[in-house]
Amino acid sequence: MTNGIQHLRDKAVIGTFIHAPTPERLEFLADTLVTIDASGIISAVVPPDDPRRGALEARHADTMLRLPEGCYVLPGMVDLHVHAPQYPQLGLALDAPLEVWLHKYTFPLEARYADLDFAAESYGMLVDDLLANGTTTALYFATQYREASKLLADVCIEKGQRALVGKVAMDDPSACPENYRDASPEAAVADTRAVIEHIRQHRDNGEGRVLPVITPRFIPSCTDETLKGLGALAAECGCHVQTHCSESDWAHGHVLDRYGMTDAAALDGFGLLTRKTVLAHSNFLTPDDMDRLATRGSGVAHCALSNIYFANSVFPLRAAMARGVRVGLGTDISGGPSASMFNACLTTVQSSRMLEEGVDPARPAGERGRPESAVSLVTAFHLATAGGGDALELPIGQFAPGYHFDAIAVDTTQRQGGIRLFDLTDPAAIFEKILYGATRANLSSVWVDGRLVAGNQTA
Ligand code: GUN
Ligand code: FE
Repeated sequence: MTNGIQHLRDKAVIGTFIHAPTPERLEFLADTLVTIDASGIISAVVPPDDPRRGALEARHADTMLRLPEGCYVLPGMVDLHVHAPQYPQLGLALDAPLEVWLHKYTFPLEARYADLDFAAESYGMLVDDLLANGTTTALYFATQYREASKLLADVCIEKGQRALVGKVAMDDPSACPENYRDASPEAAVADTRAVIEHIRQHRDNGEGRVLPVITPRFIPSCTDETLKGLGALAAECGCHVQTHCSESDWAHGHVLDRYGMTDAAALDGFGLLTRKTVLAHSNFLTPDDMDRLATRGSGVAHCALSNIYFANSVFPLRAAMARGVRVGLGTDISGGPSASMFNACLTTVQSSRMLEEGVDPARPAGERGRPESAVSLVTAFHLATAGGGDALELPIGQFAPGYHFDAIAVDTTQRQGGIRLFDLTDPAAIFEKILYGATRANLSSVWVDGRLVAGNQTA
């Protein structure tokens, strides 16, 4: 047995595991043995009173990782919406509405990724930081550039992050800058295809930990031909799809004006709503849109913090979940100025409560908000882990046989960290303290597929 940091493939770990397999249920698995197979998949989750326990402990005695007192293991966070190239802008450029922000700040920044040295440095920093923050899976928008998009996938493969990477398609000359757009619909589709092939054939990606994504930026930046071509490509290659959907009054109104229908209906018409589609934001979904997403099995990346700055509204999360829409959480770096999914959980709770209560004190309390909108911290944590996994149709985000061992060890005793448990022993209280207080210093080990990818090496 050892308390040292190690890879956990073909090994076992004993500790206290906390996960939320459903939106309502937090499970606190004390003194539990988890065994991990040679490819990083969980083979057994064994409580202390399980009849198999003695034999399994004996079999793994030489290589068992026994986590110390005060350490709790959570599923790794699943960030369903990250603009990788926007990381240098995190915390900046939050003073303009979406349609201004894109042209004034964001397209010029993304255009810098024509320089692959800049791209390598920026992407390396982002992936290191997200792993250290406990984000074991990220669904990335890269840039319009084919080569820099391949490079983002290479960086994720090298650093061991589970990632889905999409070359951004944006070709409409009336909506995209001349120096930062696809030359034609054919070029947009061909470059998307080239990045898919690069990722699928990458010699160090045999386990498929990095996956390709068809990524029309959003309807306003694409021609009909490109949207049609990408829908056909999605049917042909069966890979994931992502785009922005009905994010703000302006973006939603643009699509209504252009097609006389909502984003969700238009995307469906182009063949872009599949079981493996994730739509960012989606604040202005109608009830019919929600039913359409539920029928297709498509998911929403709820980006609560970004929505405060750019979406003119709070996403009606509970209404969408009640209609059967799959939902996960996203940071939307850099529209959302935080690279932490712990923070995304908190903002999800906070904004849902503002939607429920309302915000204008001049209005009577009974007319101020939208009833039945608030979600609990357990629900937010579920969405940030198992919910994100479900939206991606990947076995991640909970501790169960067949799921990938993507996990974070949270050391609540770390003096440099932000958690103070005092004498708490109640599992629900410990969970809340962790979600509200955890800082990077508390994340002592981060594993993807049982491989150690980040941590302060002290657990
Ligand atoms: N809509 C189109 N592009 C973007 C982007 O980069 N960020 C956000 N938040 N919305 C978008
Ligand atoms: Fe976005």
